[in-house]
Amino acid sequence: MRLKDTNLTKQDIKDKVNKYMIETYERFDFLAETAKDMYIYDENQTPYLDFYAGIAVNNAGNCNEKVVEAIKEQASDIIHTFNYPYTIPQALLAEKVCTEIGMDKIFFQNSGTEANEAMIKMARKYGIEKFGPNHYHIVTAKMGFHGRTFGAMSATGQPGNGCQVGFGPMTYGFSYAPYNDLQAFKDACTENTVAIMVEPVQGEGGVHPATKEFLVGLREFCDENDMLLLIDEVQTGWGRTGKLMSYMNYGIKPDIVSMAKGLGGGMPIGAICATAEVAKAFTAGSHGTTFGGHPVSCAAAYAEVNEIIDRKLPENAKVVGDYFAEQLETLPYVKEVRHQGLLVGVEFEDSISGVDVKHGCLDRKLLITAIGAHIIRMIPPLIVSKEDCDKAVAILKDTLESLS
Ligand SMILES: Cc1ncc(COP(=O)(O)O)c(C=O)c1O
Repeated sequence: MRLKDTNLTKQDIKDKVNKYMIETYERFDFLAETAKDMYIYDENQTPYLDFYAGIAVNNAGNCNEKVVEAIKEQASDIIHTFNYPYTIPQALLAEKVCTEIGMDKIFFQNSGTEANEAMIKMARKYGIEKFGPNHYHIVTAKMGFHGRTFGAMSATGQPGNGCQVGFGPMTYGFSYAPYNDLQAFKDACTENTVAIMVEPVQGEGGVHPATKEFLVGLREFCDENDMLLLIDEVQTGWGRTGKLMSYMNYGIKPDIVSMAKGLGGGMPIGAICATAEVAKAFTAGSHGTTFGGHPVSCAAAYAEVNEIIDRKLPENAKVVGDYFAEQLETLPYVKEVRHQGLLVGVEFEDSISGVDVKHGCLDRKLLITAIGAHIIRMIPPLIVSKEDCDKAVAILKDTLESLS
């Protein structure tokens, strides 16, 4: 929809949102009307350079042509049927995802938090059926983030964080250990621990990649103790970190992996993939969803995944991500640049507020996000070029100089 076709002003739109919507977001003062590749355009067709990609979603670029075409075609054939009949997009996507990332089975969901719910449920059911009724304990990381539904929220090791406060008790059955501390994870496990669940890069927690020693060590520890390794690739998945899945950077495989964001080319979709043995925990009626595996989302995801692979976007994420990180190191007030591929965080000295940097960049038509008091995160579409990064660095420099 375009503003010019509505007889409304931008202020009218803002007023309607304020009056009718339950607002939990700190909005950009920006009306996103159209988008293409690396840019989002406002109602005056002013381009904004997109370094957040709808929060790590539009990996093959905004409104990727093949994804748009797949959505249009599928929507005109069949939009929704539920999971009783077979549908072609589901079958093609299931095969593509499983074969490309080396997993046996997939279950489709609608979002990241839902994928994590499915991952937690599958692990618990596997543990209880194999070892007994108390065998459902899961160890996750402090400062991790897994979503905003009760299971995923309870797996999120951030007591006191706004996403947990005020909602009463979290779900029982989780313990938390400091990220990248292998011994602490081992110590947190009990005789009833069924799984360890981590992000390979803590995204919302400040962009902290797992060390090789940590992730490989967790894999070995789980193997030695008949426990499952659950990897949350909701933010890292589908090329962002230089490989299709971040765990591929470490030469390991999880027992269950969750994914969402970058899978769907902008359409809502989530999924878990599991080994054949663990997947057996889900049987007829034990889990389900009305919209999961939606034909239009699956058609879009199938086009997106093909684009990511055919255009070698993980390789671009690695090369351009390394270049971008090097350039960011040259900025003033930088304490640390952390990244894996194009999941990039910059931590500034305490005098610099991440939110101020974000707003300064918005004024200069660069879209980024702030996480934590002094950290900005940049997660552009994986089609981003070194020249785009140079533009972003120049805007950041100008912004930081104006803040000082
Ligand atoms: C690692 C991780 N897991 C889960 C989620 C939740 O995903 P969604 O917002 O699609 O529910 C997020 C969202 O930021 C995430 O970064």
